[in-house]
Amino acid sequence: MLSPGNVVERYEVERELGGGGMARVYKVRHVALGSVHALKVLDPELVGNAELRARFLDEGRIQARLRHPNILVITDVVVAPGVAGLVMDYLEGESLDKYLASARRPPDADEVRDIFQQVLAAMGFAHEHGVIHRDLKPSNIFLEQVHGRRVVRVLDFGIAKVSGAEGRPVTRTGSRMGTPQYMSPEQIRAAEDVTVRSDIFSLGITLYELATAQPCFQGESDFSIMEKIVRAEFVPPDVVHPGLEPGLRAAILRAMALEPERRFASCQEFSAALVEQAPARTATPLRVPVTRIPVTVAPAQPPEPPAVQKPEPRPEPVQAPAPRAVEARPAPAAPARLAEPKPSAPIEKKAPKLAKKPVPPSPEKAEEAEAAPPRGRPWRWALLFALAGLVALFGSGLIGMLFGGSAPKGGAPVTRPGGSPGTRSSAARDESLSIEVRPANLTTLELMDPQGRQFTVTGPYVDRKPTPGVWHVMGRAPGYEDERWTVEVTPGKPASLRVSLTHRGGRKSP
Ligand SMILES: Nc1ncnc2c1ncn2[C@@H]1O[C@H](COP(=O)(O)OP(=O)(O)OP(=O)(O)O)[C@@H](O)[C@H]1O
Ligand SMILES: [Mg+2]
Repeated sequence: MLSPGNVVERYEVERELGGGGMARVYKVRHVALGSVHALKVLDPELVGNAELRARFLDEGRIQARLRHPNILVITDVVVAPGVAGLVMDYLEGESLDKYLASARRPPDADEVRDIFQQVLAAMGFAHEHGVIHRDLKPSNIFLEQVHGRRVVRVLDFGIAKVSGAEGRPVTRTGSRMGTPQYMSPEQIRAAEDVTVRSDIFSLGITLYELATAQPCFQGESDFSIMEKIVRAEFVPPDVVHPGLEPGLRAAILRAMALEPERRFASCQEFSAALVEQAPARTATPLRVPVTRIPVTVAPAQPPEPPAVQKPEPRPEPVQAPAPRAVEARPAPAAPARLAEPKPSAPIEKKAPKLAKKPVPPSPEKAEEAEAAPPRGRPWRWALLFALAGLVALFGSGLIGMLFGGSAPKGGAPVTRPGGSPGTRSSAARDESLSIEVRPANLTTLELMDPQGRQFTVTGPYVDRKPTPGVWHVMGRAPGYEDERWTVEVTPGKPASLRVSLTHRGGRKSP
């Protein structure tokens, strides 16, 4: 134990910062330079153990080789009677475990990605240099504040090992294992079986904790925790945090796959998955205003004109000048509603074929409509009515085809949202939830709707009027691994989930 004022070689102790399994960390000042550093010294009862001391100092040598903006820099080594220490940059800020412990709710997805991408950058670099960390966990990730900016640093390559070209250990084996809560199954079974993919597993657990603000594996003893890890017994992250983005959830589960070969092969791959699965925040609003805009075909007082989307391949009754006018001036409500897309649900990429409900024409459009159809040209009115009739006919026919006859027949007036149960407005028709599961004929789905109502179905599932919110889905099939997903139903949008189960032998279902 060192106390304030103690001098170890060239460093004077200012105060203790904390301690872990083998060592304590102090804030120190270089006596000649006055510079501030952190000094990590091996616990006194361990320092007499020559092998441990050598291993501890190896940490410094390994980490000192890794010059990367997201890896804590080791600058010196001190060896004095009864002291073995590593000198490193002193960091202002807090470790990730402390940050999460004080967080009232999980960080939002952007923050999660920002922090974690920096961790992956550090670890990708270390792996490329043949260094496996073996003790990745939130307390070894530090959120440093540098002039008001957050920089993430990975610390404590204390039990790191150096790997050869094939990822095999070429130096130490069997050294102290990682912290049980963050260890990979293979690390639990045999410490020397650790590879890059073991770090990926620990990163998966760390990402779980970062994204949900809850530790993944907890138990009364190290043994019970390890048992849970090797059996993959944990609460799915999206159950702990229902607002979790599906992309983050998928990345966590892939990184935490029991079999190393099903995990990401590298931090670069892990990082790319996080980027790819991030919801496109700008693409959606650009795409949608064009496809969602109804074409106005009716005169000033239309008899409930069915709203028709901008043409997909379908009967073409609408060649009127309206599309041009509408494209030029999107209805005001649509872009606003879609400007903030719900990132989570794998909602169908294409806009629905039928508009949700007729959007009232914008004031400019109304003006145009008044101005455009000239009086004294009755043939044009007749044509417009004929077109409206055609659209109504085709519209209801299409609805019938799409919904298996559930649409009102014979051009009956369409009920508005809030109508009696059983009737369906055009808005409600868009709000469907479909779940396609493979292997379809074998699978049992357990569903929990946003109100917590649970039910079981066999095979694929379609609901034409699902309760909006987050649905939890669990798939089971004999011979396949149970899997869980969430899908978010947003009012007025079709939501779909396409999932496949993984065969216990590791094969993905067709
Ligand atoms: N370079 C540093 N600058 C500032 N604080 C540091 C630095 N290195 C470590 N600390 C802090 O010192 C404390 C002790 O760190 P230490 O690594 O010994 O503990 P740990 O990470 O909890 O356990 P483990 O031994 O398993 O790594 C932690 O609060 C850590 O955030
Ligand atoms: Mg540490």
